[in-house]
This record gives sequence, C-alpha cells and structure tokens, in this order.
Amino acid sequence: MHFTVITLFPEIFTSFWENSIIRRALEEGHISASAVNIRDFAKDRHRTTDDRPYGGGCGMVIKPEPLAAAIRSVKENAPDAKTILMTPQGRKFDQSVAREMAGEKEIIFICGRYEGIDERICRNFTDGELSIGDYVLTGGEPAVMVVIDAVSRLIPGVLGCENSAENDSFSRGLLEHGHFTRPGIFEGESVPEVLLSGNHQQIERWRLEDSLIRTFLKRPDLLKTGKLHREEVRILKKWQDDIAKLIAFQEREAQS
Ligand code: ADE
Repeated sequence: MHFTVITLFPEIFTSFWENSIIRRALEEGHISASAVNIRDFAKDRHRTTDDRPYGGGCGMVIKPEPLAAAIRSVKENAPDAKTILMTPQGRKFDQSVAREMAGEKEIIFICGRYEGIDERICRNFTDGELSIGDYVLTGGEPAVMVVIDAVSRLIPGVLGCENSAENDSFSRGLLEHGHFTRPGIFEGESVPEVLLSGNHQQIERWRLEDSLIRTFLKRPDLLKTGKLHREEVRILKKWQDDIAKLIAFQEREAQS
C-alpha cells in the first residue's frame, strides 16, 4: 500500500513516519508513504498557495492551481489511486471504512487548511471525502495520520502478531477484552485467576465474556446492530437467567 499526502505542512509527518509500528512497516516494505508539498507547485514568485474567499468573509482558501498541479503530478505515477479529501464534511471514518481502504493499492490524501480548499478541486479532483469525526481540526494532517495508522495496522505483516487485528475492538462488532501483564498483584489488585491457569479454552471463554460485558456496559449500541455468534447469545441468555434468579431472590427477601 502506498500513501501519498498532499499538504502545506509535510514536515508534520516526519515524526509520524519515524516512530513505532509505522516506522517498522515502512522499513519492512509493508507500506510506503510520501508527503508532497502544495507550495512546490505554486508558480508565482512568492509561491502563494492561498487567497481571500470570493464573496468576502474571514480566513483564506487554498488556491486551486497549485493544488491541482500537485494532484496531477502525483496521479502521473499513480493513475488508479483514489484521491480522498480530508474534511469534516466527509464520510465518517470507522473500522469498516479502514478495512475497505486496506484493500486499496494506493491512496492519495489531500489535507485542507484555513477555511478550506477551492470548491472546484473538491468537485473535480477527488474521489471522496473523509471525516474522522464531528469536530473541526485546524487542518487535515492529524486526520490523515489517524486514517493511515488505522489502515496500516490492518495490512498483513504490519502488526507483529498476525492475530492482533483480528481481536481488535470493532473487528467482530464487540469491544476487545481487557489485558493484564506482570506483576500478578498490582496495588492490591490481582490478575483474574483464569488468565494464570494455562487453560486456553477457559481463557478464551473469559475473554469472550469480558468482551461482551464491556460492550454491554460501554457501547450497547454495538450489540443492537452487530450480529452475534450463537455462543455469544448463549452467554447473554445465561446472564439473563442469573440476573432473573438474583432479582427473584431479592424480591423474596423483601417480602419476608
Ligand atoms: N479537517 C478538519 N477537520 C477534520 C475532520 N474532522 N476530519 C477530517 N479532516 C478534517
């Protein structure tokens, strides 16, 4: 997968490329990435990339000519790449969009800044718009990092342990179970005993129940829309029975 980011601030990406899992993914060739400076395509003496909006109002707008030239230049070497504009007006990014994007060979991201980019670029030079949430950033750069990070970790080989992405929150419609590491007792609190048992079947069962409990408590909306496996429904039924017994007991106690 090759990511190209078209931006006025390519240097923002330097430490992003140079650290942790993204760095290793680049070094091992699972992904490649480049940041292209819009300013390099400005033709005038001052290398102008923005201008005042027609019709008046606050702020500046990214000019169409240098941005169009930047996109055309990148597209010359990547004619099939999808060109995605980062904007709060775009399709909402989530794990399923990340999975879709992980299947692409090449993606070009355009980062807006200031009040935005000239509308003619949005209409004629992009294949889609993407938002990372209903809030407005000062530019698309942090949003692109979010997207590249989430997409990269779904590309085979990027995560050390191949199963890591499989059990992620959202990957199966449930939040991921809790994790524990040494020490076994931390500030008086012990690791759940089953995790020390070495019994993989019981550990898997505990993890599944923990996923279900977390999803029920933190994100019940996911349980309403997602399709649960038969085993997961069985666990929910068992809770229902246990809770019904508890309530019956409490009601009997209250009457006596
Ligand atoms: N640019 C500014 N805000 C953004 C957002 N929420 N998502 C994507 N790009 C943006």
